[in-house]
Formats: sequence, C-alpha cells, structure tokens
Amino acid sequence: METFKSIAKPFSFLFGIFLLFANAMFLANAITHIHDFVVQATPVKRLCNTHNTITVNGQYPGPTLEVNDGDSLEIKVVNKAQYNVTIHWHGIRQMRTGWADGPEFVTQCPIRPGESYTYRFTIQGQEGTLWWHAHSSWLRATVYGALIIHPKEGSSYPFAKPSRETLILLGEWWDANPIDVVRQATITGATPNVSDAYTINGQPGDLYKCSSKETVTVPVNSGETNLLRVINSALNQQLFFTVANHKLTVVGADAAYLKPFTTSVIMLGPGQTTDVLITADQPPARYYIAARAYASAQGAPFDNTTTTAILEYKTASCTTKCSTTTPVSASLPAYNDTATATAFTTTLRSPKKVPVPTDIDENLLFTVGLGLNKCPSGASAQNCQGPNGTRFTASMNNVSFVLPSSFSLLQAHQQGIRGVFSADFPAAPPVKFDYTGNVSRSLWQPATGTKVYRLKYGSRVQLVLQGTSIFTAENHPIHLHGYDFYIVAEGFGNFNPQKDTAKFNLVDPPMRNTASVPVKGWAAIRFVADNPGIWFLHCHLDVHITWGLAMAFLVEDGVGELQALQPPPEDLPLC
Ligand code: C2O
Repeated sequence: METFKSIAKPFSFLFGIFLLFANAMFLANAITHIHDFVVQATPVKRLCNTHNTITVNGQYPGPTLEVNDGDSLEIKVVNKAQYNVTIHWHGIRQMRTGWADGPEFVTQCPIRPGESYTYRFTIQGQEGTLWWHAHSSWLRATVYGALIIHPKEGSSYPFAKPSRETLILLGEWWDANPIDVVRQATITGATPNVSDAYTINGQPGDLYKCSSKETVTVPVNSGETNLLRVINSALNQQLFFTVANHKLTVVGADAAYLKPFTTSVIMLGPGQTTDVLITADQPPARYYIAARAYASAQGAPFDNTTTTAILEYKTASCTTKCSTTTPVSASLPAYNDTATATAFTTTLRSPKKVPVPTDIDENLLFTVGLGLNKCPSGASAQNCQGPNGTRFTASMNNVSFVLPSSFSLLQAHQQGIRGVFSADFPAAPPVKFDYTGNVSRSLWQPATGTKVYRLKYGSRVQLVLQGTSIFTAENHPIHLHGYDFYIVAEGFGNFNPQKDTAKFNLVDPPMRNTASVPVKGWAAIRFVADNPGIWFLHCHLDVHITWGLAMAFLVEDGVGELQALQPPPEDLPLC
C-alpha cells in the first residue's frame, strides 16, 4: 500500500474521485437498514395479569429485522425505560466493529435512561436465523426479536425454496417484573424464582390460564413446505420443540447451513436457533406446535409447563370444521431426556467439508459449572438462603467473572487503561480434579475476578468446555461473541486428550455460536481468532451469568490494514 500511495500521489485527486465511483458501484446492491429502537415500559397482559413490561417500540416480542447478507444496519437505540440498557446482535460476527456488539461493561457502558446509542455494523458472509436481545441484567426476558439474514440478492438457499417462512420465537414469561426476580435472588443468594410460562411469539398458548384466545396459529396449505425459523430466546431454559405428526427437516442452526436430516423433535439451548422445513403432508386438521423444558440438573426446580401454537391447514374442509376441533396432540420427550437431546446435537453436520483449523496454537481447557460460597462474614441469614446457608455462584476455571463498572473492557483495552481487567485468565483449570465425579467441598468456592485470556491475531484455538458436577451438573449453553466455531466433538465424563481427540470430526462438524455442553460432559470447539477486540464467552442461562459463569477473550490486532479494531464511534456510551 505504501509504494502504491507514493506512485498515486500526483493523481490523488482524480484517484479519489475514481474510488468514490468504484465504491458506489460496489455498494450498489448493499442496503443500509435504518431503524429506531425505542426501549420503553409498555403494559402487556399475559396469564390474566398486566405488567409494565420493557419492550422495543411497544412490541413484545420486539421488531423483526430482515436483511440480506452484505447489508449494513444502523439502529438507533433510544432508552426511554427506567433501567440501563444495551442491545446485542446475537451471532453477528461484528468483524472489527466490536463497539456495536452490545454486552454491558464488556464492549460498551450501558445506555442510561434518557440516552441513546446507534449501533452500526455490516453482515459479512452470514445467512440464516439470528436474533437480537438486551444484554443488561435480565432485560432480555422481554427485550428480544429476530434477525433474519437472507442470501445475497441473486443467490438462494441450498434447498428448494419453501412456499412460506414462519418465525417461532420461544420465550419465557414471569408473572412478575423479571428485574425484581433477579434482584431478589441477588439479595437472598438462592436460585431465582422459575418462570410461569414459556411462550411462542410472545403467547403462552391454550394450556395456560387466560391464554387460549391468543394462541398463535400458523396457517398452511396442504402439500406446501414451510420454513420454520425457531429461536430459543428463553432466559434460563433449554427447550424441546416439536410439531404433532409432522417430520422436521433440519437445514440450519445459528445462521449456518447443515446437512439436512429429519427428526420429530429438536432441542435448543437459550441463544441457539434452528431452521427446519416442514411439509403439510398430513390430513387437513389442526396440529399442536409445542415446546417445553429440557431440564438436566437433577432435583433443581424448573418451569414444567408447555407452550403451544397451532399448525392449521387452510383447506376448505378445515376452515369449516377445524377451528372447533381440538388440535392433534404433540408428544415431547421427558424433561430429563438427555439421550434425545444428545442424539439431536450429535447428528448436526456441516453440508460439506469445512476448513476446521488443524494445527492448533492455543490448546485451552475451561471448566464450566456452579459453586456455593460460604455466607460472607457480616451477612445475615437472609442473604444466605442457598443450600445450607450458602450463596450460589458459578465460574469458568474457578474464576467467577465480575463485570467492571467504570470502563468497558473494550475501552480499557483500546485506550490502555490499567486496573480494569487482568490478562491472566488460566488456560487450564488451576487445580485438576475429577470434574464430573464427586467433587470435594473444598473446591466449591471459586475466586472472583475480571480476567481475560489474550489471543494473538490469527491464532488457531481449540477450547474444551468441561462441565463440572460441583453442587449439581447440568447442560450449559455456552455462547462466544464475535465468532462462529466448529463443534468438533462432545462427550460425557471428563475430556481425555489421549482418547477423545481420535473422535474429533475435522471434516464436516457443525458451525455454531452457542454450544450445548452436555450434562456431566464436555464439548470441544475450534476457531481462528481473526476478529480483534474483546469477546465475551458465557453461559446463555442468564441466571448463570448473574453468578459469574463467564470470561472474555482479548484478541489482539493483526498487522494488516484490515486486521485492526476500528476506532470507537463518537456516541459510544461511557460509564
Ligand atoms: Cu445472546 Cu452474550 O449473548
């Protein structure tokens, strides 16, 4: 570039004009979508009661963003609510635009009540179903919506174009203010109250009180194929999803295509999306669409209700009779059916051979799990209502993550502000133990810290996420910001590098942004650190983030011109 510049200098003016035109031509097809997101309290009636609910533009769920790959977005978020807020574009790679990623105190300080911030980013090489959600306290319980990325103009899906597309946003509803629920739990140290309903597109469905009239219906014509874009936007619960008597053909997950396969049930952890094709090949009638918990933690309380919608055939015979008949019932696996959950996640394959990194520069092992803190001295019994007078906590590699409060991690990194974080997050558990066995009580209490793990630009990373059975083992949906990764293997028990590496799929593993780490098990992921910035890695069960089940990667700039984090936008909220 340097040599080129010096040659071009005398012609710089003309060259500039040429660039302008070239740019305009290049950008001719790319669209910038401009939206206003007004975050505000809105009365929402569910389960017989009305709550002043935090929404975007008064909509629950929030507005759907529909774009094409290559498009840019400019979303001005205006905070008219009484809480701090940020919005995260879950699964968007945000190449070099970490400032638009959204997690509070990680890539930005919160947007205070009365303030605003414009998120600017471009979709680069992603197609499929993603979503957006608040990333501040538990606001995402009601502040979320879909982000659908169609192929570039002129390209198509790798499967026959479906006649219809239907969005299915699975959610979780508290008959209370979710912010009060988490505040209460933070005071008591106990587990927060479980939700009162699951929802499909914001509606609990006809199995709940005061809800049957609003049950969502999905119309279909006999014979046609419908693409269901299923998103688990529930706060704290993995969900099984099914449609009565219909086969689901899985074609994508987390905005990456998959080798198609059919199944009657899918499982999604919070954060995950799955695209399925469904053909209306059954006798015209009404069929239940249903979701309920996959709850893997033994003995832990969970919301054991079922949300429903109705797949309704629109043929003549049906419009006259169907709406009065009871829908055909759907069968879902038992809440603790780990075999079904595992059978689903281990069947996912990329459509063809993918470039999985093979020579690994960073070989990491992170434990993920819960913990119990002894009642701190000076605290009262009210503050220690966890098991045997403790307080719940959670950690990765024995570090319970604490968010900073005076600067975001990204600002501290970019401006070299010291004392906000330390770059000594351990590459392996500081103490080796039988992670999924009977763990000694002396290992139940993690340290607290704001620690990041530093990665050189371009390093090839293998990360094994190892579940622990500290207090109780359970499935953890672990989400990495700013990246997609390949899940090369998962298994039960403790990861064994001698034996388990042989099972790695380095040919066609699925690419995702959220991995389900099996209960009492592990998942191995690989990615290339080609996106500079600070990227949050956390359990997508919000109750676990609250307890500290998180860490962040600091990915250094590369040397190339397009390998550095962009400068921060002028309206970036500061602390
Ligand atoms: Cu969808 Cu950090 O989250």
